[in-house]
Amino acid sequence: MATTLISNGTVVTASETRVADVLIDGERIQAVAPRLTVAADRIIDAAGRYVIPGGIDVHTHLDMPYGDIVSSDDFRTGTIAAAHGGTTAIVDFAVQDRGGSLRGALDGWRRRADGRAVIDYGFHMIVCDFRDAVEREMDALIAEGVTSFKFFMAYPDRLMLDDGAIFRALRRTAHNGGLVTVHAENGAVIDVLVQRARAEGHTAPRYHALTRPARTEAEAVYRAIALAELAGVPIYIVHLSSAEGLQVVREARARGVTVLAETCPQYLFLDDTQYAAPGFEGAKYVMSPPLRARDGQAALWDGLARHDLHAVATDHCPFTLSQKAAGAGDFSKIPGGAPGIETRMSLMFDGGVRAGRLSLNRFVEVTATSPAKIFGLWPDRGTIAPGAIADVVVFDPELEVRLDATALHMRVDYSPYEGMVVRGGPVVVMARGEVVVEDGRFVGRPGRGRFIRRAARSG
Ligand code: URP
Ligand code: ZN
Ligand code: ZN
Repeated sequence: MATTLISNGTVVTASETRVADVLIDGERIQAVAPRLTVAADRIIDAAGRYVIPGGIDVHTHLDMPYGDIVSSDDFRTGTIAAAHGGTTAIVDFAVQDRGGSLRGALDGWRRRADGRAVIDYGFHMIVCDFRDAVEREMDALIAEGVTSFKFFMAYPDRLMLDDGAIFRALRRTAHNGGLVTVHAENGAVIDVLVQRARAEGHTAPRYHALTRPARTEAEAVYRAIALAELAGVPIYIVHLSSAEGLQVVREARARGVTVLAETCPQYLFLDDTQYAAPGFEGAKYVMSPPLRARDGQAALWDGLARHDLHAVATDHCPFTLSQKAAGAGDFSKIPGGAPGIETRMSLMFDGGVRAGRLSLNRFVEVTATSPAKIFGLWPDRGTIAPGAIADVVVFDPELEVRLDATALHMRVDYSPYEGMVVRGGPVVVMARGEVVVEDGRFVGRPGRGRFIRRAARSG
């Protein structure tokens, strides 16, 4: 098996920063120590660079059907883009059909990914039809390494489940070690606001945001946490977007409830003024929850720094401009989602570490370590340590990264960050011991990515 020595770099984990060499033997890290004097098949000089665990993005939607269309990145293009951005593992969402089984959904998503992905991937399961048999199936999925489930509190017509179903699922996880995650927006209230806006003749993209006020998130976050508290189990809030929602998380944590929450770069870097763009431009930013007022962003950064928010994932769900045009005459028909799988690490380094909002270690923690721990990938992934899988990124803190669509690799014809240049990015990306990106060139092989069987929650 090939050996690689990454020498002279500054190794950064969630808990320490030190100058050390990293020896990789095959798929795993063999040693981390200063001045390793060993022969290796390849030596990578990382002087002046950080050596960090590969990013773990626990919220992506590759090749995801949405009515008649499908998100524009599949598992090949999406994972190539992820690798370019320094992400070496993802947890994507399989979606149960109404009337269908979890088993069928998992088989379908394995078929989408197997043979295409470049980096390793796991799956959460979106449950949108909860029955006795489905409740039992949760146990079987956990045994196969699909250990987390997403429940929607929004989209009554397609995905939403009622509080009873979510409560039953939560109670089940007390025994089977699964983790319930929720999309927390009050779908019934949003539906009323959407119908009223449409009846008043409003069609523009900005009504997407106007009909999903932050209080609808905060209310659903409160309710989800209350259900978890009643069931006596942890819960994870995906894509938390607002200061109002964060306040509810903080209050619950202060009284001892185990609430874990993720936010996404779009809520930290972009704001609701994007919806005022002329014509249909605002459709680029139609996602749920929507972008919020800029004055809430400081609270989210503070939440990350103070450990009230635990992970930064992307909710990567790209649609091209022609796909977005499905909602040209009706904002409620614009496919929801935006690209982000490639830009997360550089944005978080620039806006977090360089801007003094996050320590270097906290940057590693929220982009890799903490997602690994929460979602059963630890200690194999999310750190640089002997025995860990060699998902390793040599990260240049001075590298200029252009966030224009033409400079990126996601299969979508716009970038939410068009015109932005950030500093800090990967120069070498190793996935399971193989270099897959080097100096901006993809050198990996589609299909090399493997399904990750994740561990169930232990505590
Ligand atoms: O609008 C979004 N975020 N689309 C992706 C699906 C979801 O709710 O996460
Ligand atoms: Zn969601
Ligand atoms: Zn999502």
